[in-house]
Amino acid sequence: MNKFYLFGALALMFLGCKEKKSESETVLVPTYYSEPYRPQFHFSPEANWMNDPNGLVYHDGVYHLFYQYYPEDTVWGPMHWGHAVSTDLIHWEHKPIALFPDEHGLIFSGSAVVDKHNTSGFATNGETPLVAIFTYHNMDGEKDGRTDFQTQGIAYSLDNGEAWTKYEGNSVIGNEGIKDFRDPKVFWHEASQKWILTLVAGDHAQFYTSPNLKHWTLTGEFGKEYGAHGGVWECPDLFPLQVDGENESEWVLIISINPGAPNGGSGTQYFLGNFDGKTFTTDQKEPKWVDYGTDDYAGVTYNNVPNDDRIFIGWMSNWDYARDTPTEKWRSSMTVPRKLALKKIGSDYFLTSFPIDGIDDLASSDLSKAWKINPKETTSRTIAGLDQSMIQLKTTSKDFSITFQNAQGETLVLTMDAKNNQFSVDRRKSGKVNFQKEFGNKIHIAPTEMLEGETFDMKILLDRSSVEIFINGGLLTMTEQIFPNEPFNTLTVENRDSQSSLTIDSVKKMESVW
Ligand code: FRU
Repeated sequence: MNKFYLFGALALMFLGCKEKKSESETVLVPTYYSEPYRPQFHFSPEANWMNDPNGLVYHDGVYHLFYQYYPEDTVWGPMHWGHAVSTDLIHWEHKPIALFPDEHGLIFSGSAVVDKHNTSGFATNGETPLVAIFTYHNMDGEKDGRTDFQTQGIAYSLDNGEAWTKYEGNSVIGNEGIKDFRDPKVFWHEASQKWILTLVAGDHAQFYTSPNLKHWTLTGEFGKEYGAHGGVWECPDLFPLQVDGENESEWVLIISINPGAPNGGSGTQYFLGNFDGKTFTTDQKEPKWVDYGTDDYAGVTYNNVPNDDRIFIGWMSNWDYARDTPTEKWRSSMTVPRKLALKKIGSDYFLTSFPIDGIDDLASSDLSKAWKINPKETTSRTIAGLDQSMIQLKTTSKDFSITFQNAQGETLVLTMDAKNNQFSVDRRKSGKVNFQKEFGNKIHIAPTEMLEGETFDMKILLDRSSVEIFINGGLLTMTEQIFPNEPFNTLTVENRDSQSSLTIDSVKKMESVW
């Protein structure tokens, strides 16, 4: 390569240019989305800081993904709404920033709706308004030690999400002195023919109704004595969901909490109960968790998806160390989109979350043939490309470990110990872990009691800097970031059960979506 090509290649690397081929005979190495740890089949911003998914809405064949974004640095800063669109929730096109801070404050988390009947009156020429509902965070108010610096605002788009205009009457919900007062999630409630807004107010959720998205009335509160309260409540979501195989449905209230998650830091709990158009009620006192891993936070679901499918996306990080993870150009990615469902187990109900079908379409060629591990047997295989793969297995073994390893001896260990009712993820020796003390200090544990029956099936999605584990159709889910110093290329299965064998059905390469 002469020095001009070298210069060109370096320039492309620097710019993160999409160009994958050169006109000349010299083939340039693809550089777009190929930095160390860059997720290959997860959404991440081209550059700089991202946190919560916002404004998840489907409209006219397009899934919109807005997100908490700071365009000037790889750490959290004055929040904007970044924007991307997709027709399949898998391949994304980056769009210009949708919402910028203004005189009312920074743009914190919120939601978006399709105002089909133009209840807002924003459309004047027959357009269908998309309306974003978000929290204004007023920095001056916060600095002055006030408690009313978070209010709710709205903005609208009359061109399918391209251009956004803030409502001149903002804020639409003022603050009477609640310090943490944010993250409005809105949906249209057919039964009462009203918009319903759920937000969080420190240690509880509040429900508001509106005929037009502009004037809101507080109708109910929930949560002071329910669920986990190790930290502040954030990012609520509220929706009905049909119970699998039953002719009944439950209302699901999702509440993120930081700190206070089962394995430390940020996590997302849910409640199952009833919503009467005004407030949510339940007899569920104890929290249930959407994900037992440490890296699935602030997740909410899409509005307006055909067939009432509930598609959930979470931010794949944790406030304990989100600012410190060892990536350079950008920081953080989203979980794969997951379809939520409800399962009845005995007399109890659980939320399941499982990758949408399109994820399987990315699993192209086999990286390894199926193999069977007998009782009391340990086998290893070296598998090139393992670091970007989907692994599926099923077994009646109650005691086994799956270890991902690289040439440096770094390991990620998943252990099923169903005899002692637990599944765990050990990333303590998975590579870079010392960038923050909470990241690699302990094994992360999940209970397995809800996994009824004798068989376990497992789907594992491994990307360059994450692992997502779905057990028994997503009855138990764990999501974790990892930063190995070189790619994992060895899979070891230790089957400690003395009765049952275990079969790795497939190890498939996941195609890059970038
Ligand atoms: C959750 C959160 C939200 C807030 C946003 C700010 O991660 O703290 O409650 O709106 O992030 O970026």
